[in-house]
Amino acid sequence: MFYSRIAGTGSYLPEKILTNQALESKVQTNDEWIYSRTGIKQRHVAAEGQLTSDLAFEAASRALEAAHCTAADVDLIIVATTTPDMVFPSCACILQHKLGATRAAAFDLQAVCSGFIYALSTADQFIRSGNFRKILVVGAEILTRLIDWSDRSTCVLFGDGAGAVLLEQSTLPGILSSHLHADGSYAPILSVPGNLRNGLYEGGAYLQMEGNAVFKFAVKVLGEVSEEALSANHLDKSALDWLIPHQANIRIIQATAKKLSLPMDKVICTVDLHANTSAASIPLALDCAVRDGRVRKGQLVLLEGVGGGFTWGGVLVRM
Ligand code: ACO
Repeated sequence: MFYSRIAGTGSYLPEKILTNQALESKVQTNDEWIYSRTGIKQRHVAAEGQLTSDLAFEAASRALEAAHCTAADVDLIIVATTTPDMVFPSCACILQHKLGATRAAAFDLQAVCSGFIYALSTADQFIRSGNFRKILVVGAEILTRLIDWSDRSTCVLFGDGAGAVLLEQSTLPGILSSHLHADGSYAPILSVPGNLRNGLYEGGAYLQMEGNAVFKFAVKVLGEVSEEALSANHLDKSALDWLIPHQANIRIIQATAKKLSLPMDKVICTVDLHANTSAASIPLALDCAVRDGRVRKGQLVLLEGVGGGFTWGGVLVRM
């Protein structure tokens, strides 16, 4: 019987930091409003010319180094992203070339802010089936390029970044279980509706969102999927060492923790410094907590995400 385990983590944030104060000169907003409603203080923004695959490359290289692997060891690369470099080839193929991971198969997976959870679950299936032994799972986004910088209700919420894990075959679990869900009827509350047609970009090019509806939906499903993951493994809430949720809004995170009766000092929060980096947010938070020594080998960690689609899911991991 094969299991998968996280052998190494890595992440990358672009150099440029955009603070709430700096946003005050772009739109009618202020630090107090943004921080009290969202918990966000700042976000990182990719440099002109920097591509999602560049961010993914840095995060993936660090994950490989942490796992004591080389690119040549990798069997498969999955990149979760909503902001690939181009329509095709996939960001994963571009990353494969940049890394020199010549043996690796590669594809992108698009589930917006749940993308990393979907990708990690997919990688786990490939390892459990015995098809692959080492898989790079990356969440990478330049979401700030889908933002209308004159819309204060959305532009304050997002940032850019990338996170990665090297998942490898193991005789011990690792990933205990994963739980994926979707409901396409909620598409209207969060979308970028446009597309390329006949050489032109048609439809809305910017992210549009009904903030209140998204907020309520996120709190509901994150609570449900936490219970689902624990009960599938016959575990009590008290068994959890850490919750690492998608980093969209501190109030969503606090409400989820409350449902799990989990004190906030058992929740990894990076939303203050990173804002919402969509598919990158969970692996970024995981890598921060691994590198600062909070998340340690043997601990039980629940990763969970929710995002456009709507999609949501959770992965329970023994580190
Ligand atoms: N600065 C100042 N005022 C603002 C801003 C801003 N940046 N944005 C909106 N306002 C104003 C509104 O115009 C409104 O003014 P009014 O009362 O005069 O009409 C007032 O603030 C309240 O607006 P609401 O939208 O009701 O504020 P709310 O408390 O719901 O907070 C927010 C909005 C932060 C977007 C919240 O709904 C939220 O976080 N929702 C979740 C959205 C999210 O996380 N999306 C990420 C993508 S999905 C995902 O990752 C899960």
